[in-house]
Amino acid sequence: MQYQIIKYGTDAYTASLNLRHETLRVPLGMDLFDGSYDDLSNEARYFHFGAFSDDGELLASVLGIPTSTKEVRIKQMVVSKTLQNQGVGKRLFMAFEAFLLNLGFKEFILHARMTAHGFYLNMGYQILGDKFQEVGLDHYKMRKTFFPSSD
Ligand SMILES: CC(C)(COP(=O)(O)OP(=O)(O)OC[C@H]1O[C@@H](n2cnc3c(N)ncnc32)[C@H](O)[C@@H]1OP(=O)(O)O)[C@@H](O)C(=O)NCCC(=O)NCCS
Repeated sequence: MQYQIIKYGTDAYTASLNLRHETLRVPLGMDLFDGSYDDLSNEARYFHFGAFSDDGELLASVLGIPTSTKEVRIKQMVVSKTLQNQGVGKRLFMAFEAFLLNLGFKEFILHARMTAHGFYLNMGYQILGDKFQEVGLDHYKMRKTFFPSSD
């Protein structure tokens, strides 16, 4: 298994869109591509990262949106259904965090589905505030700070 950046516009990027669509949107009766909820127009400036099998198949992906020079919002973490609960998500997430830290980001924010927030607790994230609704599902805002902020 290889954990590496996905370049925008490549076949791997298209595979990640399809995985996000199938895993996160189809079960909710939504369509990632129809523009009704997801805005894909800014994705060239996002960080895309994936887990690949030895023969190059995309098995999991995640993206990050820089919101300042220090903060990044992590979104749409997905592992292919047949590979969930086998440690792929954890290894991908750790590799992505290391990649983002290397770029200078120190504060990581995400909106976790209630059903998945235990995964992020496991990864050292803390819940911020009360649960809220997004895409019709309960979510928690969560954060992980790697170094104390001096400001
Ligand atoms: C949530 C998801 C990304 C986790 O990836 P994964 O590969 O299945 O998780 P891992 O096997 O790497 O699990 C790592 C650890 O987190 C825990 N964990 C995984 N999913 C969990 C969940 N939904 N709730 C609580 N804990 C969870 C595991 O038990 C494991 O704990 P351990 O290290 O003590 O053994 C994946 O299951 C997934 O794609 N789910 C569907 C899409 C989704 O909900 N994405 C998140 C949107 S916010």
